[in-house]
Amino acid sequence: MATQFEDSYHRKFYYLRLSITDVCNFRCTYCLPDGYKPTHKNSGFLSVDELRRVVSAFAHCGTSKVRITGGEPTLRKDFTDILSMIAEQDGIEKIAMTTNGYRLEKNAQAWRDAGLTNINVSVDSLDPRMFHQITGENKFDLVMRGIDAAFDAGFEQVKVNAVLLKDLNSGELPAFLNWIKDKPIQLRFIELMQTGEMDSLFERHHVSGVSIRNHLIANGWLMKVRGKSDGPAEVFCHPDYKGEIGLIMPYKKDFCDSCNRLRVSALGKLHMCLFGDYGVDLRDLLQDDAQEDALVARIQGQLADKKQSHFLDQGHTGMTPHLASIGG
Ligand code: GTP
Ligand code: 5AD
Ligand code: SF4
Repeated sequence: MATQFEDSYHRKFYYLRLSITDVCNFRCTYCLPDGYKPTHKNSGFLSVDELRRVVSAFAHCGTSKVRITGGEPTLRKDFTDILSMIAEQDGIEKIAMTTNGYRLEKNAQAWRDAGLTNINVSVDSLDPRMFHQITGENKFDLVMRGIDAAFDAGFEQVKVNAVLLKDLNSGELPAFLNWIKDKPIQLRFIELMQTGEMDSLFERHHVSGVSIRNHLIANGWLMKVRGKSDGPAEVFCHPDYKGEIGLIMPYKKDFCDSCNRLRVSALGKLHMCLFGDYGVDLRDLLQDDAQEDALVARIQGQLADKKQSHFLDQGHTGMTPHLASIGG
């Protein structure tokens, strides 16, 4: 193995978030309220071969988990080929994706057969009308059937993401808890993060996850130990519940201390942070397998510049207009 990816704060990077498209077919109020609009001259998203070279370089430097993100990654026609390609890379133990669930019902089995190991689905409300209001799409039932299809296909756990929104879904904790009582779902409440294009939505709807955390602790929920390639959620379990609750609280002090992930965008830019100020182009080094050493050297060179924190609490949103642009 080449030298492991590590930054100057001794954080090691086991987890690659690989965006394969920035196109999305939903219009979530906090992300793409007006729907997807291409902002770049589309030089084409990374091809399967280019993606393979990215994953291979990361795998050779200690990465064991790849999460495919977007936009909505499953809109790519070659999505299943991408899964199969990643499954062939030595050292990658987990192949995860984050999806809006739109194509899950039809494809869960084929994706599992191609090598997908973990699925995160966004479900911001258990009330179909509120789901429609938040996502811009009347697709609640379709997404729920998708989650059932994932269990039927053999996924043992599904993670569900709900962005916490004051006055919209913030009163739904009892409904969500009831939902996961007998289902192996890890339901994660995500604090709304301010991004560059977000208007007053943040002031209107941001709410901290602390009150949920306090409620869980007061009601016998226990915090689980975090694994080395786990995402940023604090996860709680309870003996009476088959499901788990996760809290993603990016505004919490020290949130970034446990950062273990790097990002590559659909256009082949390396991002040191979700809220970084720039991306570093890798595409010129993705044209030939023989370029891997140079690719690794370029990535290593950037690690020295990785900042200690995202500085979100100081209103810093970096170059990120919305999370679909870089894959959340
Ligand atoms: P697991 O790998 O399953 O633990 O999931 P994850 O939480 O890393 O991935 P997912 O794509 O489901 O992301 C859930 C939320 O966490 C999204 O809102 C992401 O934008 C956010 N998130 C993930 N990684 C980071 C990070 O490094 N920094 C910040 N600020 N948010 C992150
Ligand atoms: N703040 C918090 N979470 C967000 N997501 C998208 N935009 C934001 C934001 N501004 C979530 C989506 C999805 C995950 C990848 O990121 O709901 O579950
Ligand atoms: Fe790491 Fe940046 Fe995420 Fe913080 S915001 S945890 S530094 S990637």
